[in-house]
Amino acid sequence: MNVQAIILAAGQGKRMRSALPKVLHPLLGRPMISYSLEVNQRVSGTKPVIIVGHGAEAIQKALGEAAQFVVQEPQLGTGHAVQQAEAVLAGQADVVLVTFGDMPLLTEETLRRVVETQQANSGPVTMVSLIAEDPRGFGRVVRGKDGKVKAIVEEAQATPEQMAIRELNASVYCFSAGWLWGALKRVPLSPKGEYYLTDVVGIAVAEGQAVQALTLDNPEEAIGINTRVHLAEAEALLRKRVNTAWMLAGVSLVDPASTYIEPGVTIGQDTVVWPNTYLQGNTIVGEGCILGPDAVVRDTRLGNHCNVFASVLEGAILEDHVEIGPFGHLRKGAHLAEGVHMGNFGEVKNSYLGPGTKMGHFSYLGDATIGEDVNIGAGTITCNFDGEKKSPTVIGADAFIGSDTMLVAPVKLGEGARTGAGAVVTKDIPPYTLAVGMPARQIRKLEKRD
Ligand code: UD1
Ligand code: MG
Repeated sequence: MNVQAIILAAGQGKRMRSALPKVLHPLLGRPMISYSLEVNQRVSGTKPVIIVGHGAEAIQKALGEAAQFVVQEPQLGTGHAVQQAEAVLAGQADVVLVTFGDMPLLTEETLRRVVETQQANSGPVTMVSLIAEDPRGFGRVVRGKDGKVKAIVEEAQATPEQMAIRELNASVYCFSAGWLWGALKRVPLSPKGEYYLTDVVGIAVAEGQAVQALTLDNPEEAIGINTRVHLAEAEALLRKRVNTAWMLAGVSLVDPASTYIEPGVTIGQDTVVWPNTYLQGNTIVGEGCILGPDAVVRDTRLGNHCNVFASVLEGAILEDHVEIGPFGHLRKGAHLAEGVHMGNFGEVKNSYLGPGTKMGHFSYLGDATIGEDVNIGAGTITCNFDGEKKSPTVIGADAFIGSDTMLVAPVKLGEGARTGAGAVVTKDIPPYTLAVGMPARQIRKLEKRD
């Protein structure tokens, strides 16, 4: 059976009080709507149709090719919104799945269950309800004495008796497509001047057709975001889901409540994450690492058994057994080979540090290529920018850079070269040569050690 998904996202989201369209507000680093988009895409196996209106351009720009977009203008209610998809979907689908773009907690399992129920039954619609003490302004599910669903009544139209109903409409539906397009044309205008999608349920009942209703085991899934308070609630719940999955996969989170792992991250077994740690973007962490406390790791690849303490890593690569921190900063293009040690107040940008190299204390390396087992003395700086252009620094294996050395790029230091404390290196230093002073002069040849 051909399944097509429609996601409604044309409303203004006034209660967010924001210049940003509601569905683009980030949750764990991604636009809210990307969560519904992903589950709908997986369940339908095709590009969902997103109904846009307010902020349409920004939404299309953010999601690009991941969806088909249909503009609803003006916005005359949820029923009217679904109707806009008829032009692109009529004849394309056997069943149509309808959800809202502001429900990021809805799971793939629930959507599958809804589609399967619709496919297994002859009625025209399957809907989803939840039982909750706080009605949150949701529509009420009205059942007859026989227990069958009779209608969904919006809060604004509900009688006091109906207001007391605690079975609420989650707003997840699966329709038989052929029936849906016809039923939408019969939806009456509500007293609020909108065409409610919820009215199609009453239309099915009036036709004497069966309405299937599933009840959510976990009402959390139905959280729709209307305010920034709801946004924070959803963020906490999503974070908990992600963190729980990693713990069950063999990662220790010392304090899950203060651990922020974005959905695109992967983490190897026996890694331990200490509090106040942020793993973001396309970060890949190997096995047996220790991260945090206070680590921010974005778009970075770490090998196995790395240790990152109170440091910020962005766009970097760390091979196995690398240690950094406290207070280290790796920027884009930093590549630390196996066994590199970087202590406090170090910054590395667009540079390769060879295996076993040590940079213990407050140094800056930019646009540098450093060989194996080099010692970078405290306070070493690559002066890579002359105000106009960036220039490279190359340091050979086993070099020893004295404390407070300024390496004025472009400059090359040969294998085993050495600088005295406070040297200002303006010219290349040949292998196994000691240079001192300002500017540094070569003063003697050195013995090669093995
Ligand atoms: C809706 C349901 C209610 C349900 C609740 C669950 C209706 C009439 N009511 O109420 O029964 O309990 O969701 O969250 O469906 N939208 C459009 N175009 C429009 C109007 C809305 O695309 O013309 C989109 C909005 O962007 C939003 C969604 O539809 O994503 C829901 O609209 P909203 O007005 O928030 O409906 P609720 O009052 O939440
Ligand atoms: Mg809503």
